[in-house]
Amino acid sequence: MRRMVDGVWLVKARCQSLSARNRAGANGQPPSGVDAMEHNNGSMQKELDRRRNEYQRFFELVPCIVSLQDRNYRLIDYNREFSSRFDPRPGDYCYRAYKGRSQKCEYCPVEKTFADGLSHYSEETGRNKDGTLTHWIVKTAPLRDDQGEIIGALEMSLDITHKKELENKLAQSEKKYYAIFNNIPNPVFVLDVDTLVILDCNGRATRVYGYAYEELSGRSFMDLFPAEERQRCRDLFRHADEIEQVRHLNKSGDIFFVHLRLSPSEYQDRRVLLVTTSDITDRIDAELRLVQAGKMATLGEMATGIAHELNQPLTVIKSASNYFMKKIRNQQPIPAEVLSEMAAEIDRHVDRAATIINHLRQFGHKPRIESAPLQVNTVLKSAFDMFSQQLKLRQIDVLWELDEHLPHVLAEAGRLEQIFINLLLNARDAIEEKWDSSNTAPGEVKRIRLKTYARGGRILIEVTDTGIGIAAGDVDRIFEPFFTTKKVGDGTGIGLSITYSIVKEFGGTIRVASTPGKGASFILSFPIGEANDIGNA
Ligand SMILES: Nc1ncnc2c1ncn2[C@@H]1O[C@H](COP(=O)(O)OP(=O)(O)OP(=O)(O)O)[C@@H](O)[C@H]1O
Ligand SMILES: [Mg+2]
Repeated sequence: MRRMVDGVWLVKARCQSLSARNRAGANGQPPSGVDAMEHNNGSMQKELDRRRNEYQRFFELVPCIVSLQDRNYRLIDYNREFSSRFDPRPGDYCYRAYKGRSQKCEYCPVEKTFADGLSHYSEETGRNKDGTLTHWIVKTAPLRDDQGEIIGALEMSLDITHKKELENKLAQSEKKYYAIFNNIPNPVFVLDVDTLVILDCNGRATRVYGYAYEELSGRSFMDLFPAEERQRCRDLFRHADEIEQVRHLNKSGDIFFVHLRLSPSEYQDRRVLLVTTSDITDRIDAELRLVQAGKMATLGEMATGIAHELNQPLTVIKSASNYFMKKIRNQQPIPAEVLSEMAAEIDRHVDRAATIINHLRQFGHKPRIESAPLQVNTVLKSAFDMFSQQLKLRQIDVLWELDEHLPHVLAEAGRLEQIFINLLLNARDAIEEKWDSSNTAPGEVKRIRLKTYARGGRILIEVTDTGIGIAAGDVDRIFEPFFTTKKVGDGTGIGLSITYSIVKEFGGTIRVASTPGKGASFILSFPIGEANDIGNA
């Protein structure tokens, strides 16, 4: 089906004469005689007709919308696809047929092509004749006559409705995810995986850190750490997927503790690291308060032992002072060497008492948060020192198996000591309970074994006792807060739960092995933390 309107023959006739002349010239054989001329003309005409039909067929069947327009945007010709989509009337204008408009579109590539003779491009939206919305990309090209004058503009439109819909869906889902990203209650950062420069961050990040978005983007994420933490964290960023507890700075220089989660991802075609930070300062404060409360409870529990420890130097001092007073009353001289010996003894015992009191005072201090490289053996001995006397009183043997060349761990001495004291107190109680119940086999001894060693990049500490042991059903519960099998007043059940949280804080693990009736063994493991693991060590 072909539609012809005014002017179309003009354009086509010009096209035909142009192609006929070209082909005759290309043939190169001058016609000879009238017959030959007639013959030639006849076959040329046939060839022309054949080609014209072929082009007409291409024009009709090409799978996109094609139209030919004159300078006034009137449709000179259009293909089948055009008429199947729109409803052109004879002599119709492009803008009416495409979009139902009464005048030309604001931006018209056909107008441009007529103006400068070049090809132009645009994206258009209109309606098909069934009323559905449709989008096209439009490209135009000039059609010229023999003199090079533009006699028409070819307009070709390709339907991109499906692509447009996908784009819209993508834009909507991007919008949705961006809204989620922006409203996540934790700060989220997108970092370049190699340089750790901030490429993007959400609204929460700007509020928590006090910077404007422009100040954060392009800044190194390492700037948010205090200088002494940077190297350690830079190393961790290479392989860790979370950093349990680390200090961060906001714009005003205030320090707060954060937990970081890192996950590699892709963002705008580049490899990035997504980092979420959670402020854990309040949690740490609460934990510290709990540890402190636990310490106070421990101090209370150790009071009897401590009294005994202090009694010993006091007894020595008392008997020395009795001796001096007796000598004075009897007006007897004190031999110089006895005086010096007794003064030295008093001095030694005052020192001993002072050490105990200092230790208690230190133990009672609020714990510090910073970790430092520590020798576990030293802390273990210091914890033991606190109540060695009570173990002696109860005739509990202590077996030391310390590896004297143990590498350091990264921890805080006060809290590490708290762990050992809790374990020692529990071991003491378990042994007491067993011997109180007279449930002992012949030859069994009251013993606590303290063992340290290094294995596989970790430091292990075992605290083993020959006490009552733990019933199979209780093993999974002993680390729960307030789980206790002790009599009311004897235990609150917080010792092991505090121990567990401190162990976790230093990147350690704790597990228990026990044979009920035979004893229990608590095995702690901490990563080796060399001095260079912390910036200021
Ligand atoms: N060495 C041990 N041998 C046997 N049972 C143990 C041992 N250590 C802990 N337990 C069991 O685990 C429970 C919980 O221990 P945890 O130290 O948390 O609390 P507690 O000692 O009962 O009380 P608190 O420590 O608050 O004074 C204990 O009541 C006991 O049943
Ligand atoms: Mg306990």
